[in-house]
Amino acid sequence: MYTEKVMDHFQNPRNVGEIEGASGVGTVGNAKCGDIMRMYLDIDENQVIQDVKFKTFGCGAAVATSSMATELVKGKTIYEALKVTNKAVMEALDGLPPVKVHCSLLAEEAIHAALWDYAEKHGIKIEGLEKPKSDIHEDEEEEEEY
Ligand code: FES
Repeated sequence: MYTEKVMDHFQNPRNVGEIEGASGVGTVGNAKCGDIMRMYLDIDENQVIQDVKFKTFGCGAAVATSSMATELVKGKTIYEALKVTNKAVMEALDGLPPVKVHCSLLAEEAIHAALWDYAEKHGIKIEGLEKPKSDIHEDEEEEEEY
């Protein structure tokens, strides 16, 4: 049911942990399954993401997608990171079962929430970034394909 890449990232998740004094921290949850994701971003003066870590209280698919998402945004500028959608993360993992698609949204939203926090702390506006939801459940209805 899961691809090899999903299993690999689930069993050996990259970038797990936290960053002390992070430039931006974002936390989102999914009220429906009760899972929670927190992302930490370390962003330098050129707006490049130097480091990223995540912590989750989430399912295996949430762990694997977050792990892959952190790999994809590391070393990118904040604007490039903004373009890393859950679809891109799923493609990089060679797909997810349809009932697990919503789990990948947790990673995307947590990154957006961390970017939002960074922008607020630095008094800047990131073009194209909308205020993230703290709960992704509302989005979920459109995404699920039961
Ligand atoms: Fe909740 Fe996967 S079931 S994030």
